[in-house]
Amino acid sequence: MCGIIGYVGDRRASPILFKGLKKLEYRGYDSAGMATSGSGIHLKKVVGEVKKLKPFLSSLPGTIGIAHTRWATHGKVSERNAHPHLDCSGKIAIVHNGIIENHEELKERLKGHEFRSETDSEVIAHLVEENLSRGPLKAVFEAMKLMRGSFSFIVMIEGFPFLIAGRKDTPLYVGIGEGENFVASDVLAFPKGTKVIPLEDYEVALVSKESVAIYRDGKRVKKQARSVSFFEDFEEIEGHYMYKEIKEEPKSVSRAMNQDLSEAIRILRENEVCLIASGTSYHACLMAKLLFSKIAGKKVEVYLASEFSHFLDSIPKDAMIFAVSQSGETADVLEAIKLAKRKVISLVNVPTSTLARISDYVIHLNAGPEVGVAATKSYVNQLVIFTLLAYGLAGKLGEGRKLLQDLPKEIEFIFSQEEKIRMLAEKLRDKEHIFLIGRGYSYPSSLEGALKIKEISYIHAEGFAGGELKHGTLALIEKGTPCIAFVDDEEILNNVNEVKARGGYIIGIAGRHNELFDEFIAVKGFFPITSIVPLQLLSYHLGVLRGYNPDKPRNLAKSVTVK
Ligand code: G6P
Repeated sequence: MCGIIGYVGDRRASPILFKGLKKLEYRGYDSAGMATSGSGIHLKKVVGEVKKLKPFLSSLPGTIGIAHTRWATHGKVSERNAHPHLDCSGKIAIVHNGIIENHEELKERLKGHEFRSETDSEVIAHLVEENLSRGPLKAVFEAMKLMRGSFSFIVMIEGFPFLIAGRKDTPLYVGIGEGENFVASDVLAFPKGTKVIPLEDYEVALVSKESVAIYRDGKRVKKQARSVSFFEDFEEIEGHYMYKEIKEEPKSVSRAMNQDLSEAIRILRENEVCLIASGTSYHACLMAKLLFSKIAGKKVEVYLASEFSHFLDSIPKDAMIFAVSQSGETADVLEAIKLAKRKVISLVNVPTSTLARISDYVIHLNAGPEVGVAATKSYVNQLVIFTLLAYGLAGKLGEGRKLLQDLPKEIEFIFSQEEKIRMLAEKLRDKEHIFLIGRGYSYPSSLEGALKIKEISYIHAEGFAGGELKHGTLALIEKGTPCIAFVDDEEILNNVNEVKARGGYIIGIAGRHNELFDEFIAVKGFFPITSIVPLQLLSYHLGVLRGYNPDKPRNLAKSVTVK
């Protein structure tokens, strides 16, 4: 899920590429590299984060260049495997995001070429080299014909004043500036005010400083550049994005609430829908299933996007897919949609994303840009929209809006207990396991809370339906084992008692204190939404106390564009 960026203009390329690449780091951060063209190709690669490229920017001259931040798939993390990759002559440089699935076969075909890395990506440089005598554009078309898998890539060739970029199944955008143009995996990487042309599958863009030409099937096509306001309020900060994004929740929930959902409610009322999503968005869908059932009596099925293909045979022909994704670029989600060949309604945060573009109807999450790898404010907004949709389906939208009208204040109330949560993190920081339990609405919350703890603090955490603990996992509870209980009904207290009786250390997330609790975080308002906020803060503080960067959890990336 690497991030790629290209620049061509009158300004020195390296600092501009560096700035853009920093904003793409959420896509991968194990190694990085940059190549510029100016009397020869100049190349620098580093293992580690993008910032490690900074000291070398002055050694990269020229006003045209490409850069890459990597999340390794093929070939270990090393300087050699970092992008850009060169062809044999050293005159063609490429950066790539995705997986060239037939790279072995292509390497066979390219016998005689000197491969310097273990990556699948390097074949692109050599494929272009093979056909360069037929012209750069033709060489890229020919290379694309042979490549299978998923790819977005940028090619830079010494002596040519343009970049060539193409895509299939992973995102790529052309950015139009004044006397300068860009290409990148995400609009976020462009300077503010840049107009954008999203590339679709098999499109190729020839990008020079004055012009952009787009080709499909070898023929020129006209595409309109458009302004994008979504990223306007993105600011670079010194601290952690995860923290900033949790703290933005009171504002972002208001944006989720203040939108017209009538058309979405009509669509959901008239159609059978199958919810599909990955990761945190999947947990939001599990919550949606409960909300729709309890509030509107509507049954929906929920599928993990990566498992959806196994259920395809039982999906009714006229059912709609309801795809839920913060990024709108998750490969598993897009693949499930392709397989389903059914109409799509989606709930998406990034309005320019592939999912938003291919959906028949889009509900916007309106959470604003989310950069921290762990989904926080986007999850809360998903829950807000699902709650309103459920009330809307029941014909009681007004009641739903009333229920949530104080949500910003109720989230602020959790923030007011942050010091208590931080001290709790101090107590838990050296634990090996944390269990979370909840019933009904709180079951998805316990799954999501566990995911947050795992990805940010690397402590093993597991969420359970409270009643299930006694069917096996209770065997793991010993004196002092932390158990976070979401207490929103009487029944869960039976399960809390079972844990307590075996020496478990009970952390109650609840409306009011109970004598069973060893620790207590108070929650007000609509419990399925507000009760997750303490878990987000707890995970953040656990991660920081244990010395990890919560914005860049090891082995992970925010936008997962490989299957
Ligand atoms: C990645 C992220 C998760 C996210 C999941 C789904 O794995 O690290 O935080 O929940 O993708 O992302 P989406 O953009 O589809 O909601």
